[in-house]
Amino acid sequence: MRASIALLPGDGIGPEVTDAAAAALDAVSARYGHRFTLTRSPFGAAALRAGDPPLPQATLQTCLAADAVLLGAVGDPAFSEGPGERRPEAGLLQLRRELGVYANLRPARVWPGLEHAVPLRPERVRGLDLLIVRELTGGIYFGEPRGRNHDRSEAFDTMRYAAHEVERIATVAFESARKRRKLVTSVDKANVLECSRLWREVVTEVADRYPDVRLEHQLVDSCAMRLVSDPGSFDVLLTGNLFGDILSDEAGAVVGSLGLLPSASIGGRGGLFEPVHGSAPDIAGRDAANPVGAIASAAMLLRHALGASREADAIESAIGAALDDGCRTADLAPPGAPAMGCTAMTKAIVGRIGDLP
Ligand code: IPM
Ligand code: MG
Repeated sequence: MRASIALLPGDGIGPEVTDAAAAALDAVSARYGHRFTLTRSPFGAAALRAGDPPLPQATLQTCLAADAVLLGAVGDPAFSEGPGERRPEAGLLQLRRELGVYANLRPARVWPGLEHAVPLRPERVRGLDLLIVRELTGGIYFGEPRGRNHDRSEAFDTMRYAAHEVERIATVAFESARKRRKLVTSVDKANVLECSRLWREVVTEVADRYPDVRLEHQLVDSCAMRLVSDPGSFDVLLTGNLFGDILSDEAGAVVGSLGLLPSASIGGRGGLFEPVHGSAPDIAGRDAANPVGAIASAAMLLRHALGASREADAIESAIGAALDDGCRTADLAPPGAPAMGCTAMTKAIVGRIGDLP
């Protein structure tokens, strides 16, 4: 198979973890005889520093022409005070919108052997395997009007959902649940927000088409609590843009580290694949990042954008084997215990890709 993949390393630890994901893609292409062309383009603060917008035109064109986009991370404290459109994050939001990738899949599971690296008691998390289906191109992230009044006495954002946006993301959640344990928990704030009341109605209508899948509705505050008190009771969590952002970081903590979580953003052109973690400027350039989220995102790219599920399985098995053999980056190691760097962890995973049948 031939495929073109746009790599956007971005900021902070983004370049390190993107290199790790690229090494995994190289290993599977060597193993299974594929030809993947990986093209790196400037994005985020790296682009702003060169005097360009956070998503330069040329980078966008490369992404639109590629079969899939693999992104590291965006965000840089040097640009945190700037106006909205000059922030690195604005480039990411624009890219998601331009690609039309409205469905963000964020799987979170406890890898075997990591039960003792999690903050909760091992029996609470054993077998935990959930999927957050987050709406990604609507809601309060994009609603208009937004802004400030001229004397800066007030600022405002708008949460807005069209019924068709809810319908299509709910469909993704039910289709996913059908291939899993057949439970959708739809998360909203219907006791307060009009958007959430529409959300609930539309999700309930979509559920009628899936009699084999159970639907439950849950308010976001109690869902946040259940995610730490009984995380194993979830299968698919269906939610909007803002709640999904918050709950997925919480899910990262529950499974041991946000550094483990991958994501796939699909539904539009090609697909955008990125670890859930941010740019982590405090550890950038110190070879201390956990590459698992990015490498697992490359596996999701293979599965969702290229239909290469055997290759995706090979990467995921290699991650599992490395973790099961005790390979630990600093975020996973017990306090004071020796930890592997990003490069060593990547080698440990990539080296195990070849081992598999
Ligand atoms: C995420 C991130 C982004 C988001 C930021 C960087 C804009 O937190 O992907 O979860 O809020 O969607
Ligand atoms: Mg986030």
